[in-house]
Amino acid sequence: MKFFVTTPIYYVNNHPHIGSAYSTLAADTLARFHRQIGDQVLFLTGTDEHGAKIAEAAAKVKQSPQTFVDTIADDYRSLWNKLDISYDRFIRTTEKVHVEVVRDFLNRLKRAGYVYPGQYSGLYCRGCESFKRNDELIDGKCPDHGTVPETVTEDTYFFKLSIFKDRLIKIIANDQLAIKPEVRKNEVLSFLENNDLEDLSISRQSVGWGIPLPWDESHTIYVWVDALINYYTAGKKTGFWPPTQQILAKDILRFHAVIWPAMLLAINEELPKNLFVHGYITSEGKKMSKSIGNVVFPEEVAKKYSVDGLRYYLFNAFTFGEDGDFSDRLLNQTYNAALSNELGNLVQRVIVMVDKYYDGLVPAPSSAHNAALVTEIWQKWQQSLSSYNINVAFESTWQLVKLANQRIDETRPWGLVKEDQEQLKNVLYELLETLRHLSLMLTPLLPDAAGRIRRSLNLEPVYQQTDKEHFRSIQWGELRSNTRVSLSPEVLFPRHQ
Ligand code: MSP
Repeated sequence: MKFFVTTPIYYVNNHPHIGSAYSTLAADTLARFHRQIGDQVLFLTGTDEHGAKIAEAAAKVKQSPQTFVDTIADDYRSLWNKLDISYDRFIRTTEKVHVEVVRDFLNRLKRAGYVYPGQYSGLYCRGCESFKRNDELIDGKCPDHGTVPETVTEDTYFFKLSIFKDRLIKIIANDQLAIKPEVRKNEVLSFLENNDLEDLSISRQSVGWGIPLPWDESHTIYVWVDALINYYTAGKKTGFWPPTQQILAKDILRFHAVIWPAMLLAINEELPKNLFVHGYITSEGKKMSKSIGNVVFPEEVAKKYSVDGLRYYLFNAFTFGEDGDFSDRLLNQTYNAALSNELGNLVQRVIVMVDKYYDGLVPAPSSAHNAALVTEIWQKWQQSLSSYNINVAFESTWQLVKLANQRIDETRPWGLVKEDQEQLKNVLYELLETLRHLSLMLTPLLPDAAGRIRRSLNLEPVYQQTDKEHFRSIQWGELRSNTRVSLSPEVLFPRHQ
């Protein structure tokens, strides 16, 4: 099976913050999960580099747009490397290959009869890079950016978006383009049902920093049209088209659920299968912004709490799909409770006991173990990751962590040393085998911890597997007796004050 997952491509007018990291970490989790269960994966991310907003940001620091975008695109790439994001393709909209695909796409739209020249007059918000209707403004300002949009009147080319209204309603209602969660699907449907769709202005004469229209080079292509096509550039040439899963936040839902599918319908291309729309991460209750000074940078969080600490927090502190507040206090608490105490201690206690009682060699169990519960947890894990419920996958994995800690407290292996050697072997084997299962369940969720637990068990980290290898790996009893196990030199999750 092919699995093609995308993140939005990020604007390079600012340095990446935790909001950009959220979509990317979610896509990373899904990509790792699909590689693990045997799928062929294309994980795409990248940067959105054209348009008035970027040109303005470059001018502010007295740089040419190209020099400016090169620097910030590098920032993104280096952040993703620091966060160990397993992307397969990093696309930049200034790449030659993308520019060619965009020009070709626009020619196809025109040839198909969906483009006509005209004049547009409207209120343009640079922050959104889109025209706004009067009823979308609050006190004359864009509600997302708090700025007064500029009045623009110019010649343009239009895309006949309006004629796609009924087809869009149908494909969204019947889940040909499935939008999740349900509340977002209903939001798009009610927008489409209650408004006339206007044709879309797809070119700008007054914006120089963009891709020239192939048939009229005095216009550049509207930045959103250019940006949306990035998915097509990366997916079509590699044989991965269409996207299985597109991840985005609610701010850019209409672009992805209205304009984007209409563009694809117009050139007779297959539509993406699923859009997953998540909420915003706020900081101290407010939208993150430079001017408020509450921007959280993911590399700083990861430096203190590790990348896995950041992942755990982001997918546990709030439900995937809803808004959530980033709080340092909560992060600290969650990290210490779940990662240091529950998971970290579990690994430490089990390996130390094996070291002490069996010289670090996995003992042979003398009786078969009933693994029905583990099988059940595996089912929940697989189901939740297949349906993009990352927080539920964490919950089921933690069910196993908790069970293992309970087993230690109940069986008191240190007491069994003198009383019942056979039982001690059985309990320790069961705990070690549980660690192996945990390392596999954690592979897409907390990849670094998963790899370290596996190294402690003398096993290679998992990345790409076949479905057969995956199926075999989740059976009970795969850990070989007499394997040497050892603690890694650094504590898995050191406690923080
Ligand atoms: N360049 C456009 C997207 C084009 S995709 C063809 C854009 N870029 S953006 O950098 O402003 O934001 C992109 C995405 O970053 C958002 O949709 C969202 O996925 C993520 N986030 C940015 N800030 C966020 C939060 N504060 N919280 C959660 N995610 C947010 O829009």
